[in-house]
Amino acid sequence: MKVPVSLFNGFGEEFEQLLARTCVTQGLLPSPEEIKNKRFLNRSIVPHVERLKELFNRVQKFQDKSKDKTTPQGLDRYWQKGSNPENLRLAYFLSFMPGNLYRMSAIWSELSRLGYRWPDSLQTLRAIEFGAGPATGACGVLAGEKHAPLGLPAQGSFALIEQDRGTLALGENWFSSLQEWLGGSQFSTRPFHRKLEPEKSWLPRAAPRFNLWLMSFVLNEFEQSPRELAATLLESWERHLEDEGLVILLEPAMKLQSRRLLELRQEILLQAERVSMPLELLLPCLGHQSCGALAEPEDWCHEEVSWWRPPYLRVLDELTGLDRKSLPFSYLVFSKSKKPRKELLPAIAQAAHLHRLVSPAHRVGPDWEFYWCGKEGKRRLRLRAEGVELERGSILLNSEFRGDENASRIDRFDELL
Ligand SMILES: C[S@@+](CC[C@H](N)C(=O)[O-])C[C@H]1O[C@@H](n2cnc3c(N)ncnc32)[C@H](O)[C@@H]1O
Repeated sequence: MKVPVSLFNGFGEEFEQLLARTCVTQGLLPSPEEIKNKRFLNRSIVPHVERLKELFNRVQKFQDKSKDKTTPQGLDRYWQKGSNPENLRLAYFLSFMPGNLYRMSAIWSELSRLGYRWPDSLQTLRAIEFGAGPATGACGVLAGEKHAPLGLPAQGSFALIEQDRGTLALGENWFSSLQEWLGGSQFSTRPFHRKLEPEKSWLPRAAPRFNLWLMSFVLNEFEQSPRELAATLLESWERHLEDEGLVILLEPAMKLQSRRLLELRQEILLQAERVSMPLELLLPCLGHQSCGALAEPEDWCHEEVSWWRPPYLRVLDELTGLDRKSLPFSYLVFSKSKKPRKELLPAIAQAAHLHRLVSPAHRVGPDWEFYWCGKEGKRRLRLRAEGVELERGSILLNSEFRGDENASRIDRFDELL
């Protein structure tokens, strides 16, 4: 995925210091210098990162009903008291939060790259983040808007829903520190410490309407089927999402969780049509066609974005064996709008045919080879072209191609985005 250089470089030493100061203010770090201290990281953070890794794997196994019929022991005790909950929160905050924040800002920048602009009709931002953790998605929007603006109004608020009180408090503090550091906006946060029960409803009936709906690495923690999730989401969007409002769903890139998101996509589109809800899928697919990846039982679809990691994260990655140089993820962006996609994404307005690369592009002799997805589904292609930069996420406009789904060749295209 292409992102602006300033976003790529925006998470260096200064960002690290801001993180460290926030942790000190919250009583999670004894001093800002400790964020770089290998001994401290090794003793206080690494064991908790291991525990969180294990928990996320258990969630994945649980979702894979074919392999594991047990319930996700431990999910309810996510932030359980006992074995040093502060260090567990700190481990999530330092190890997992920054990558998710960056992924969210990369999605924001993709909207900006394709010309999406915040609707004039939505003069006050009313955002909500579900399972917000330390306000990760909200902070991703702040960073996205700084480096790749959509033109958000300067005023507004983010409602943060989270079941863990300590993480919520950390999120509020982090949001205001980051906002001050980035400058420009004056959004407030409204914390809601509560346990979501999507089997009933995402929001109480009396809740107000919002115009930005964020879910980052949270949908996969619920056991409802894609059909059930789609039904409760659509019911909530009917009641609690303003016309022209935007929905961003960010999920892990792994096969199982990604396929669940793709199934959710199909269900949302199907059910929205059934209840005549105007809903346009903006990203990553450039159409409402049936999913090219779901056509194969072993296939899935994800994006990937790279960045200049905060320096301490490189150290932490060495200690934990994780590698966050590039960040994979799956995502969907919807607009509750009657406007066609081409009006909402002007950069593709002129294209009769659109295809997005859904794999890396490799050199094979004089050709580029890659997979793309479009309204004919997913297929492997070759392209002979000099001086082009192709990567996962690139978009080709008005390609002329020949061959079948196993091997096609592009003869010409109008534009590469
Ligand atoms: C993997 S973390 C993601 C946190 C944050 N959205 C991010 O991207 O970094 C999942 C979060 O969802 C919260 N969560 C899970 N189930 C929840 C529920 N039923 N009600 C409220 N929060 C929940 C967890 O407490 C946790 O903070």
